[in-house]
Amino acid sequence: MIFMVVGARPNFIKMAPVILEARRRGMAQFLVHTGQHYDQQMSRIFFDELGMPMPDANLGVGSSSHADQTARIMMAFEPLCLEHRPELVVVAGDVNSTLACALTAAKLEIPVAHVESGLRSFDRSMPEEINRVLTDHIAELLFTTEASGNANLLKEGLPPEHIHFVGNSMIDSLHSHLPRSLARRPWEAFELQPGTYGVVTFHRPANVDHPEIARGLARGLAEVGRHLPLIFPIHPRTLAQSGDMWHGLPGVRIVEPLGYLDFLGLMARARVVLTDSGGIQEETTALGVNCVTVRPNTERPVTLTQGTNQLVSTDPQAIASAALHPPQRPASVPEKWDGHAAMRIVDVIAAWQAGSTPSNSAPNQR
Ligand code: UD1
Ligand code: UDP
Repeated sequence: MIFMVVGARPNFIKMAPVILEARRRGMAQFLVHTGQHYDQQMSRIFFDELGMPMPDANLGVGSSSHADQTARIMMAFEPLCLEHRPELVVVAGDVNSTLACALTAAKLEIPVAHVESGLRSFDRSMPEEINRVLTDHIAELLFTTEASGNANLLKEGLPPEHIHFVGNSMIDSLHSHLPRSLARRPWEAFELQPGTYGVVTFHRPANVDHPEIARGLARGLAEVGRHLPLIFPIHPRTLAQSGDMWHGLPGVRIVEPLGYLDFLGLMARARVVLTDSGGIQEETTALGVNCVTVRPNTERPVTLTQGTNQLVSTDPQAIASAALHPPQRPASVPEKWDGHAAMRIVDVIAAWQAGSTPSNSAPNQR
């Protein structure tokens, strides 16, 4: 039996296609939710909208410090591994749940598969970068989304036969749900027309945990909001850390986190998206929507070189200028972001179960 692990919002969107494809093929699987995210709008709504089965186990760990949260996930996950002895543990992305479950499994000599392997921001001040590097180095099946991931893993000395360039399962979800998302016309709830508004999400600790930085971002939003109405579904971390900062800005509407369908539909018809999210940089590239990423770096460089993404500093004028006057340039969808990544992932897992891994998915170093 295979353990599929989810814990936080982006995990649901990346893992749903893999879980559904494994189910379609009749693979024995057991879905573990760590409970890292737990609000209705951060967890349950995604199970409903993405058609995922309910978790077989919910570890219910909730929020706390990094060490406490990681340790509690490990302590709750270990007995489950001992009880069920899965042949493989599949984790996704770069959140604390990813590393905690990968590490627990590796110490029990249970093989680990990592969906969205190889991404690197080369910025160790980001908790996600620590989670990515460590998870990759204890995993045996490394599923990469873009060519930079292949190159990073090879540079770090990981065996080429462990690396499988499968594409982006988050974009599988986008392909599956975009028509339904658009049919809901989510902009109408805000009395807006397609192409006449922007969408905002900020939740990175570097941006929202420090009042002086958050204040600068808020000034940038206000500058944009004077010309273009902005919808800002606020992440619970942002609300908790700097909630007051974001209210009362001209043209900026703060709402609770949206479900996947409304968010995807809104994003697909936005003039611009302002964000510090990892996944949203990729979704906007797949949608061909301009994305302004308020970060000094990105672990997803293909969104800059091929996609619609641009990095900007926290300076309010820089944010406003990037959002209101985005560069006009040709953009294209990266290789294998075609809606079939989960199929390739499950192909590799099936071959691995049968005792062989397919050689045609081994990466080149482009
Ligand atoms: C986590 C991930 C981050 C990812 C983000 C996706 C880590 C280290 N960080 O950040 O990489 O981009 O999820 O959204 O794993 N909270 C609630 N309700 C919830 C969840 C969180 O109120 O359902 C609040 C709590 O105040 C909590 C805070 O948000 O302390 C932070 O939650 P946590 O899961 O620790 O980190 P995120 O900032 O959500
Ligand atoms: N998302 C959503 N509702 C929102 C904001 C984001 O459904 O209100 C989706 C978004 O489309 C993407 C994922 O959540 O699929 C990104 O998660 P997040 O930004 O929390 O995490 P990150 O990608 O930064 O780790």
